[in-house]
Amino acid sequence: MSSVDVAIVGATGVVGETILRVLEERRVPVGRVGRFASRARDGVEATTLDALAPYPVVFFASTEDASAEYAPSLVDRGAIVIDNSATFRMAEDVPLVIPEVNPGDVTRDHRLFPVANCTAIILCTALAPLRDAAGLRSVRVATYQAASGAGRAGLDELLAGERALVSGATEPPAAVFPRALARNVVPQIGSFDASGYTGEERKVREETRKMLGLPSLRVSATTVRVPVRTAHSEAVWFETERATSVEELAHACEGAPGVVFHRDGIVTPRDVEGTDLVHVARLHAEEDGATHHFMLWCVGDQLRKGAATNAVQILELLLERGYV
Ligand SMILES: NC(=O)c1ccc[n+]([C@@H]2O[C@H](COP(=O)([O-])OP(=O)(O)OC[C@H]3O[C@@H](n4cnc5c(N)ncnc54)[C@H](OP(=O)(O)O)[C@@H]3O)[C@@H](O)[C@H]2O)c1
Repeated sequence: MSSVDVAIVGATGVVGETILRVLEERRVPVGRVGRFASRARDGVEATTLDALAPYPVVFFASTEDASAEYAPSLVDRGAIVIDNSATFRMAEDVPLVIPEVNPGDVTRDHRLFPVANCTAIILCTALAPLRDAAGLRSVRVATYQAASGAGRAGLDELLAGERALVSGATEPPAAVFPRALARNVVPQIGSFDASGYTGEERKVREETRKMLGLPSLRVSATTVRVPVRTAHSEAVWFETERATSVEELAHACEGAPGVVFHRDGIVTPRDVEGTDLVHVARLHAEEDGATHHFMLWCVGDQLRKGAATNAVQILELLLERGYV
């Protein structure tokens, strides 16, 4: 496989630096790697269309504004764009791909690949084998999302808050999050709309439907920020289309691509930090003898499987198929 030059816009951020690490770890055959950010400094260039133009593959891990400004022109010039922002995720004819779940959505003609919301990627990776085993009618999820999901600034605010509390402050800083996160949980990610859902909750609903190929699936989410540095956890209640059993569902999860299934015990964000798989545990019926209503717990590193690793896997898929 010949090597390909790649640019990373947002290389100084937490997702951008994880993309760099994952490209190296997975030995993706990349040639020149250009690092871009909002301004130039050591080894990092300022982002301009001219500076990005020579790269056949451009990862965006920056802001919606940057993706909206540069991605369409780059695609018009023939580049492949793999974009971690939400800008193009729900656009028609744009695939929203988890390589383990819906690789068939990618064709040779696609050039623009949004990477879905991190919570939705972890959720859909866990749900795909259950959909395949028994169909899905509804999904309800409560999330426990890490501070680094809000970027470097979110992680820094949690760490500053922890330090402030240790040194005796009563009210730690809160600027990135709506309330101080240290020793707290905050049930708001994104802004509220008229219906009472937040932006994050809407993304989970819409992107889950798109990735699972179930446009009328009932999905409702309550998304909550917790004082964890990295890795999102999700408590999931789901209803199947067909009557099934815990045993049949467990069998479907075992060996499902991208999933580590725990028949017994628990798994926590600390256990999965720095890893690429989605862990599923605590699969059980909602009530004794239930045939359609079940529950599970899933956890994944949102900087990796929820963002950088999924982005790199999309590039690997394109390279394998000869689409780059
Ligand atoms: N964090 C997560 O868990 C996660 C998960 C899934 C998706 N995402 C998405 O991934 C993207 C990056 O998030 P992040 O968490 O890595 O954020 P971050 O840590 O705040 O990093 C943001 C990066 O974007 C750069 N940037 C900002 N404005 C720019 C501009 N106008 N032009 C070029 N570069 C610009 C920053 O450069 P400077 O250093 O110069 O400011 C920095 O490198 C976002 O779209 C986010 O929604 C994040």
